[in-house]
Amino acid sequence: MSQYDVIIIGAGPGGYVSAIRCAQLGLKTAVVEGRETLGGTCLNVGCIPSKALLHATHMLHEAEHNFADMGLKGKTPSVDWPQMKSYKTDVVGQNTGGVEFLMKKNKIDWIKGWASIPAAGKVQVGDDVHEAKNIVIASGSVPSSLPGVEVDEKIVVTSTGALELPKIPKKMVVIGAGVIGLELGSVYARLGSEVTVVEYMDAVCPGMDKDVQRTFKRILEKQGLKFVMGAAVQGVETTKSKAKVKYQLKKGGDEEVIDADVVLVATGRKPYAEGLGLDALGVKMTERGQIATDAQWRTNVPGIYAIGDVIEGPMLAHKAEDEGMAVAEVIAGKHGHVNYGVIPGVVYTTPEVATVGATEDTLKAEGRKIKVGKFNFMGNARAKAVHQGEGFAKIIVDAETDRVLGAAIIGPAAGDMIHEICVAMEFGASAEDIALTCHAHPTYSEAVREAALACGDGPIHA
Ligand code: NAI
Repeated sequence: MSQYDVIIIGAGPGGYVSAIRCAQLGLKTAVVEGRETLGGTCLNVGCIPSKALLHATHMLHEAEHNFADMGLKGKTPSVDWPQMKSYKTDVVGQNTGGVEFLMKKNKIDWIKGWASIPAAGKVQVGDDVHEAKNIVIASGSVPSSLPGVEVDEKIVVTSTGALELPKIPKKMVVIGAGVIGLELGSVYARLGSEVTVVEYMDAVCPGMDKDVQRTFKRILEKQGLKFVMGAAVQGVETTKSKAKVKYQLKKGGDEEVIDADVVLVATGRKPYAEGLGLDALGVKMTERGQIATDAQWRTNVPGIYAIGDVIEGPMLAHKAEDEGMAVAEVIAGKHGHVNYGVIPGVVYTTPEVATVGATEDTLKAEGRKIKVGKFNFMGNARAKAVHQGEGFAKIIVDAETDRVLGAAIIGPAAGDMIHEICVAMEFGASAEDIALTCHAHPTYSEAVREAALACGDGPIHA
């Protein structure tokens, strides 16, 4: 039996980052992970492989649509799908290998297998029971199921199966116009699949800035994605190699049916804490099946903490990472803190979509006096030079103090640019602070400065 200061259950972005911080703070640390490789859903079957496929298919899209215009003539590349998947697998391998290296470098033990917690202070993996003064549950999430839809990961797939399809489907139906649906829908649309997205709500990416939702949907439609909005999927019927997706429009009418070779179910994820024995331990859960924690990630059982997708809040790798670092600080007797008001959200389509803070609509609904500065990428020279003049940057500020309350960007490299706003918000900056900061020309980031100028006396290039 081995003894640790901390055992972390799950080596996704929350768990492995937490382990590194614990080790840096001098705590004897182990992670338990049952997958063959470290990195969790994000590295193995989520964020990273999908970004590899988004990159490869974006290149294809550029070759097909923009090369000739730029004087790049010649045969458009054809798709070698097995090779593209192997490139993706290679990228995943480099990253999971990197995490394994970091575990060794920081002298963190990797206990291989699936953990349970027989009692506070004890973690069982197989027949071995390990002792730990502190346990951090970072067991993540799994795709949530939809009544009437049986996932076989062949014809009816989750994001995991969608990354491993044996061939590119002719017709794909995506259930859910959220982040996964739009990213993976974009991948297959670029690969030539006829993609139809069926969404229950009336807008894509529910909860996002309304302006962005409208622009985003229009751009994706131009890229060939079809949308059926306000439609509740009732069920999916499969034959040996095909599927029929049945849905009902919310406004009424008969049940409708669409045929598909592959159906991607992307209707959200749910916390995963199975097999840990939390019931027997008496760990308090929320009504939504998340582990309930206090503001410092403590569960109601002393010595047991929880972070990431398995607790409340957005299911985002970087939110889990921040919690992972902060909980390590708390365990080490320091002050761990996460500013939940400044967690960016990014959709890695082309163009990218990135948001942070409050939306214009929620602030208006709350009756807050706000000012909105908006700048279209059509006025950004750099964006036009790379065929990405669509979209805009938008900053929302308090009308009286000019303090930045939120932002939404749809445009090139939006996912990187949003951090300028995040830093501004962390520092309690005003739009004027951003506007007075010199921005290199020609960069996409000038659009952020122009949006900040638009909160004051006006942008220059509009
Ligand atoms: P999501 O919550 O983003 O979107 C699910 C969509 O499905 C919603 O628009 C919902 O209205 C719709 N829906 C639900 N039931 C339906 C039905 N019966 N018929 C039609 N539409 C229905 O969930 P998603 O895309 O599955 O992602 C899961 C989690 O993973 C999210 O929390 C997301 O933030 C995270 N994620 C984040 C990524 C990123 O940061 N780039 C990438 C991939 C996932």
